[in-house]
Amino acid sequence: MDLGIKGKVAVVTGSSTGIGKATARELAENGAQIVLTARGQERLESAGDELRNQTGADVICVAADVSKPKDPARVVAGAVEAFGSVDILVNNAGRAHAGGVLDSSDDDWEDMTSTKLLSMVHFCQAAAPHMKQKGWGRIVNMSSVGGIYPNPKLTISHALSAGINNLTKSLALDVAPDGILVNAIGIGAVTTDNWADNMIPKARETHPDWADLSDEELVARLGAAMTPVGHFGEPEDIAALAAFLASDRNRFTTGATVEASGGADRFM
Ligand SMILES: NC(=O)c1ccc[n+]([C@@H]2O[C@H](COP(=O)([O-])OP(=O)(O)OC[C@H]3O[C@@H](n4cnc5c(N)ncnc54)[C@H](OP(=O)(O)O)[C@@H]3O)[C@@H](O)[C@H]2O)c1
Repeated sequence: MDLGIKGKVAVVTGSSTGIGKATARELAENGAQIVLTARGQERLESAGDELRNQTGADVICVAADVSKPKDPARVVAGAVEAFGSVDILVNNAGRAHAGGVLDSSDDDWEDMTSTKLLSMVHFCQAAAPHMKQKGWGRIVNMSSVGGIYPNPKLTISHALSAGINNLTKSLALDVAPDGILVNAIGIGAVTTDNWADNMIPKARETHPDWADLSDEELVARLGAAMTPVGHFGEPEDIAALAAFLASDRNRFTTGATVEASGGADRFM
């Protein structure tokens, strides 16, 4: 399927690894010019080199912390300086925060809110005027399936995901007349490196009877037990959906939170 995004300019936040990196690759393979951004410069530059070598795409890297109020505008300005505009924005940067309502601090809430939710507001505010000017734009916000079905051990992440879903619909209604479509993805359990590193020790504690399994076998066993399709997701599974939502083939889906969770109606 030709996604119709050749030459479009895509900013993907949190794109030095995991789902963001896979999404940037999918967009680059479809002819988009790419702006990668994350905090860690070295890993970011290495992701940029990898992407250029694999796809031949035009790629720039702008190190930034999305939780800092001025950084989103700086990243968008970098995109405009290098490529002339921003057509596609994928708000992906972030992480999960373990804990429930009773054991979370104000600092936890403030830090996670700036990283996950407020950062999206700032990126949308910086990018949307460029999209409006062209009468075409696509925004994809990475949320969690926990925004619909919360897990009480991941309260902050999931409450913010509910906020992301709501913000997504609200912005979508606002900018639909300008040719800008805005959607969220309700992500389920996807085995990125960081996630697997955290999950494997926890699973080994909970399942001493699985001590003989290799890490790979253990992840497969858990995925089979917890996911209706029989396995956890991979970054590429989310990237394929994100690229469609961000493309010109998507002409009628906006304001949606599309679940990509292998049928699981709870995160973990
Ligand atoms: N994997 C899952 O199962 C899952 C499930 C539901 C939702 N999600 C959401 O999907 C998104 C991607 O997840 P992932 O598993 O691919 O994560 P990941 O592998 O940990 O990658 C996170 C990316 O975001 C960057 N990042 C983190 N904090 C940042 C900040 N303050 N400013 C700029 N960049 C930042 C990281 O680079 P630096 O650390 O160098 O900045 C990295 O590039 C996250 O928002 C996550 O909450 C994931």
